[in-house]
Amino acid sequence: WGKTGHRATAQIAEKYLTKKAKKRINELLSGQSLALVSTYADEIKSERSYKNYSPWHYVNFDFDKEYGAEAPSERGDLVIGIQKCIDILKNKSSSQEDKEFHLKLLVHFIGDLHQPLHVGRGEDKGGNDIQVRWFNEGTNLHRLWDTNMIEHYKMSYSELAANAAVLSAQQIEDIEKGSVLDWVYESQDLAEKVYESATVGEKLGYRYVYDYFPLLRAQLQKGGIRLAKVLNDIFG
Ligand code: ADE
Ligand code: ZN
Ligand code: ZN
Repeated sequence: WGKTGHRATAQIAEKYLTKKAKKRINELLSGQSLALVSTYADEIKSERSYKNYSPWHYVNFDFDKEYGAEAPSERGDLVIGIQKCIDILKNKSSSQEDKEFHLKLLVHFIGDLHQPLHVGRGEDKGGNDIQVRWFNEGTNLHRLWDTNMIEHYKMSYSELAANAAVLSAQQIEDIEKGSVLDWVYESQDLAEKVYESATVGEKLGYRYVYDYFPLLRAQLQKGGIRLAKVLNDIFG
């Protein structure tokens, strides 16, 4: 996601944190909100000393194979990155500084996990190589889902979070269940649909938003609920 998607996810997560998790997180982040730190992983991307973290934003594997059937990328990926962050946050001997850093990354990566094209195909870089027309500008399928569709609504991240669907306790429970890997497979299934939603060079606009924005919003909300679940498991 772009900035607004990440911040909306993080803001939604705040609603679902336990008191204890909230307190521990507040200490680690010196009072900064989850929304504020959610874009940190993108801010460090351009710094050479952090280049090792770039492959952690996505994971590509064959749509009809299991994750790990072929050796995962040596440089790491979204699945490996999330696990690494969780391990460091759970480890009593990690420094506060290390914990703060990996907490910021974790908030970001759980968000990215819910952008279907972050679990897309490697050949087209998760849709980055699929050029399409968006109203009167050129974009690509990945960017369309990261930012263009969200920007179209001109809603702030707090508006997106405040207007999230009202869910029943049962619906929330269903979203919370499963492992990170289950959520990866779910995103990959959605990525298949997203790939089928457009062809190269297609002119997309109102009809596309009408058809796909509900899915995008549901993904932001799931990302928020599951981020809180992961954080509550670590800190709760
Ligand atoms: N961003 C850059 N490369 C990517 C890939 N292969 N999949 C998803 N997002 C990406
Ligand atoms: Zn992206
Ligand atoms: Zn990212």
